[in-house]
Amino acid sequence: MTSPTSPTDSAFLKAARGEPVPHTPVWFMRQAGRSLPEYLRVREGVGMLESCMNPELVVEITLQPVRRYGVDAAIFFSDIVLPLKAVGVDLDIKPGVGPVVENPVRTLADVEAIPDLTPEHVTFITEAVQGLVAELGGTPLIGFAGAPFTVASYLVEGGPSKEHAKTKAMMFGAPDVWDALMRKIAAMSATYLEVQVAAGASAVQLFDSWAGALTPADYRDQVQPHSARVLERAGALGVPRIHFGVGTTNLLGLMGEAGADVVGVDWRTPLADAIPLVGDRGVQGNLDPTLVFAPTEVMTARAAEVIEAGRAAKGHIFNLGHGVIPSTDPDQLKRLTEFVQSYPS
Ligand code: CP3
Repeated sequence: MTSPTSPTDSAFLKAARGEPVPHTPVWFMRQAGRSLPEYLRVREGVGMLESCMNPELVVEITLQPVRRYGVDAAIFFSDIVLPLKAVGVDLDIKPGVGPVVENPVRTLADVEAIPDLTPEHVTFITEAVQGLVAELGGTPLIGFAGAPFTVASYLVEGGPSKEHAKTKAMMFGAPDVWDALMRKIAAMSATYLEVQVAAGASAVQLFDSWAGALTPADYRDQVQPHSARVLERAGALGVPRIHFGVGTTNLLGLMGEAGADVVGVDWRTPLADAIPLVGDRGVQGNLDPTLVFAPTEVMTARAAEVIEAGRAAKGHIFNLGHGVIPSTDPDQLKRLTEFVQSYPS
């Protein structure tokens, strides 16, 4: 495969813009980290947040999957809670657990105590993105941020949650606190994306991983307007916007309407069902992440089905239906990448 000389001409950005592609572009959520031995080596003795704030490490970790797999896009190595950390919220990312917040947010005073993010809080992000773009050449870099609902869940629950009960209780019972919190996070995520694009990121992805916990009506009334503000500010930068969540079969239309150019689809919804729901937009996804544990020919046969179904979309970016599972065999992901890139477009 020949590499494009500029991200603008890459298969990834062409698909995101709905233009004809030389091959279906492929990258993997959580491609950086966890499953790669070279990642575990450079992370030895270095905390997750500490590594996200070290531009040299961020550049190295982001490049690792690009080198190993030859994927069509790099995803910036960071985390959705990094902006909160940068403004001084007392939190940590615990191995095998995820983000843990020392003093969960419950009141209006708690929300108001969180400073707004400015580019000066995250100069290390600017430095890392600039370093990356110089190294990546024609491979586009995807910047990202957490969507207000998903970030709010960590802030209100104090850590990972299955039911998001305290978060939704605030949404149902304390609308003024909820509105203030969602506005605070939306502004923060938008600034975080602006910083990444200003430094050279070619596209952005807004992760609303846990939005699938909501009914369509609650999503539309209490969440979508806030995500829409983030996507609107990102749209003003002229880069494609991908909007992704898990378990969002009922929300795909609304997530598209929030202002996405491409809607990420998890593996539970066949692309053939998802495409009519997202309207005149591209789709990203959606091979079941456990299929990499199946025999290679089973995995590639399912990947072919995903590519075939994607032809009906305005544009299709191949991905897993959620992140790479940490115990994934990197050789199997390499075979999957080569299969997708050599499949007739
Ligand atoms: O390769 C990539 O996708 C780039 C880096 C990235 C990370 N987090 C690094 C990370 C991205 C895009 C994220 C986004 C993120 N973080 C999301 C949205 C995407 C999704 O997966 O749904 C969410 C919900 C988080 C919050 C978070 N951070 C979780 C749920 C976890 C996992 C806990 C675990 O280890 O099972 C983290 C930690 C985290 N973020 C790790 C990495 C590489 C693992 C920490 C480590 O290596 O020590």
